[in-house]
Amino acid sequence: MQPDPTLFGIRGFLIDAPEFGSLRSRRDGAIIVKNGRFAEIGDYEDLRKRHRDTPVRWVDRGSALIFPGLIDCHTHLPQYSAVARGESQLLPWLREDIFPVEREFTGPRAREEAPLFFRELARNGTTTAMVYAAIYEDSCEAGFEAAERSGLRVILGKMMMDLGSYGQLQPKKILSVSLIESERLCRKWHGAAQGRIEYAFSPRFAVACSEKLMRSAAELAQRFNAYLQTHLAENREEIEKVRNLHMSALDYTDVYEKCGMLTPKTMLGHCLHLSSREIDAIAAAQANVAHCPTSNLFLASGLLKLDQLLRAGLAVGLGSDVAAGPELNMWQVMRGALDVQKARNMFEPNLPRLRPREAFHLATAGGARALGKTAAIGSLDAGKEADMIVVDLAALLPYGNQGKRIDDLTTEDILALCIYRGGPHATLETYVRGNCVYRAPEPATRV
Ligand code: GUN
Ligand code: ZN
Repeated sequence: MQPDPTLFGIRGFLIDAPEFGSLRSRRDGAIIVKNGRFAEIGDYEDLRKRHRDTPVRWVDRGSALIFPGLIDCHTHLPQYSAVARGESQLLPWLREDIFPVEREFTGPRAREEAPLFFRELARNGTTTAMVYAAIYEDSCEAGFEAAERSGLRVILGKMMMDLGSYGQLQPKKILSVSLIESERLCRKWHGAAQGRIEYAFSPRFAVACSEKLMRSAAELAQRFNAYLQTHLAENREEIEKVRNLHMSALDYTDVYEKCGMLTPKTMLGHCLHLSSREIDAIAAAQANVAHCPTSNLFLASGLLKLDQLLRAGLAVGLGSDVAAGPELNMWQVMRGALDVQKARNMFEPNLPRLRPREAFHLATAGGARALGKTAAIGSLDAGKEADMIVVDLAALLPYGNQGKRIDDLTTEDILALCIYRGGPHATLETYVRGNCVYRAPEPATRV
């Protein structure tokens, strides 16, 4: 019988969190992957026996950990080279530290950096990312080409801004150029690579966009059934600016609502300083939130009232928000989410605590839900597309192989080690649709 290249089995310690608050795990488990999907999930010995007569190629990862791929719901391709820069808050930071970097992200610079960026995502165990490019068409084109080649699942869009843009065009032409280029990119890339690549219309935020731009972006997103991404209520000074620009709006959220920007395919970055009216409006529109805790701490923007958003039924994913967030590493973003809620707990002891299993849920199944992709990704369930990562626990243990044994640790202990100490040094392999898109250069030590 000819070996089927799309069929393989992988053995490891399986961990996922399909529901907020619960954790599933299987020591010495295994997954059969066929045609890019999880075909069967179970105990290694059982599956091995059951497939004795089928030509399954086995990848034995022993006691390495297998998680669903991590999902980054908000990050900026042109900003990665400027991480950890600046000591100011949002608006001066954008002006002084970010716009100069984004302005240069075109031509050879964009073409050289874009593949490195997606390589970094894969090395960090991120399998799906929702990303902003710079305002230039070629920066987005370079991003899409690199995304397609990387094998990752990527939703990307050209940054749109027509008020105080860092671009060189005359203000009256900026709007039409922004719309024409965005539409052209969407037509070319939305749904490419059998749907692995998608487009997000990307009006930056209400401070930098005219109503006409925001309304047109929302119409385009609807026309092409594409995503829409923007920033909302991240910083007090930003909110004050929006209030002054839109005196007749009820609040910041109302500005987006009036422009038709709140839809089930909308990803709203941050959402820190919202009233209950605004939270209800977002919930009613079934729009989604990208919580970016490491960014919110870096820019001292605020502490997300996560419990309020979850109670209202909002779909919340996590975002690295590089370069306001200093790392693409989603384990560190999960840690940031825990730290933010711990900081709130110091002042409000009655608030519900956020546990590692819940932060992990947000970075996997929660992100999938926020992107409307629950049927495809986010957990290790038969029928889903085979996006997963293999993590070397020994690389995270204080004394590696010489210290505590994996059998002595609970699943919650293991997950906490990943969140508090995880990163690219522990990623062994990253898979999207069953294709290995990253493999650690040297075999790391195992438990
Ligand atoms: N608000 C508008 N643009 C940006 C950006 O690039 N980063 C962050 N963190 N917030 C924004
Ligand atoms: Zn952002």
